[in-house]
Amino acid sequence: MTSTAADLANWIRPHLRRAGSYAAVPSLAAISAATGIPVEQIAKLDANENPYGPSPQVLAALARYRDYHRYPDPTHDDLRRELGAYLGVEWQRIVLGAGADELIDLLCRLFLEPGDEVIDLVPTFGMYRFSTEVAGGRVVEVVRQADFHLDLTAVAAALTPRTRLIWVAAPNNPTGTPLTPAEAEGLAALGIPLVIDEAYAEFSGQSAVPLALRFEHVMVLRTFSKWAGLAGLRVGYGVFPPVVAEHLLKIKPPYNVNVAAAVAARAALADRAYREQTVGRILAERERLAHLLARVPFLEPLPSAANFIFCWVRQGSARALRDALRQRGVLVRYYATPLLENAVRISVGRPEDTDRLLAALHALTPEELAA
Ligand SMILES: Cc1ncc(COP(=O)(O)O)c(C=O)c1O
Repeated sequence: MTSTAADLANWIRPHLRRAGSYAAVPSLAAISAATGIPVEQIAKLDANENPYGPSPQVLAALARYRDYHRYPDPTHDDLRRELGAYLGVEWQRIVLGAGADELIDLLCRLFLEPGDEVIDLVPTFGMYRFSTEVAGGRVVEVVRQADFHLDLTAVAAALTPRTRLIWVAAPNNPTGTPLTPAEAEGLAALGIPLVIDEAYAEFSGQSAVPLALRFEHVMVLRTFSKWAGLAGLRVGYGVFPPVVAEHLLKIKPPYNVNVAAAVAARAALADRAYREQTVGRILAERERLAHLLARVPFLEPLPSAANFIFCWVRQGSARALRDALRQRGVLVRYYATPLLENAVRISVGRPEDTDRLLAALHALTPEELAA
């Protein structure tokens, strides 16, 4: 019997055949190959990475470690204890993932039956939609207000008996909007499992961890990708109610966080001076960048509580702006979605990255912007 690729596609679960993919940013090597610009001359401001990289103590710990031939501790108790001390929570509430992304996926698997609904406070981070759909769930979008703060009345009105989860990024990606304590309380008061994604908490200086300790249905996600400069190693974690932590540990792949990630995360956590210094540099550069962007005639930057700045593009097209900057070796994030059609997100880099970006912005011609 013969079969064709089209036949085989029919065996794939229908909801996954229909699902969209997550638009991840291309690698530096791919951009370099496409533009002919050497990697070291590219200002990579498109993925909210930490431009300073990990602490030297992280690199030393990775070089010192010898047991790469052994499987990791499946529950990573040492790192969880240290994270418990870092956040002031019982360490048993903490579960690690291969990035916060993996925890988003695991939470969808834990809470969603096919057809169950999640509330997505758009525009926001795309992984909530992605993982919900992979799990067979249905995304119910609630559009934020014009200033990107939440419309709590609309959230309440969107709840149905099938609502299983509410996702909220605090601060929000890509808009940089903080979650106010009143908004967090308002969401928690709805009584639906609420995941507050604090990937950028070290930059905002605000946290909903105390709220998670008060309410059994409130969870908080964190990551080492941003403040610790470990995006490439994939290590995130969350603070969960004990019953959720227990079930996440049960369903996660046993060795989801690899030993290099755990070694690096422990060393990063121990190097408090580097954390304070790096976060301080990024915050100082955010202020400088915000000030400079506000003087670019065709941009309208919004205030940000994270390590990136969202900008409305007031003349020309945001896509053309992204493309023209890329040709000059500056990468920024553009979203081909209706709510963000005329906007870009610019990560805070080093002062020299800001200089390169500003030089490119000021060199752009009206023709390039209109393209
Ligand atoms: C709001 C938010 N959550 C989670 C993540 C992903 O974090 P991780 O690298 O730990 O998977 C990001 C990354 O951009 C993010 O913006």
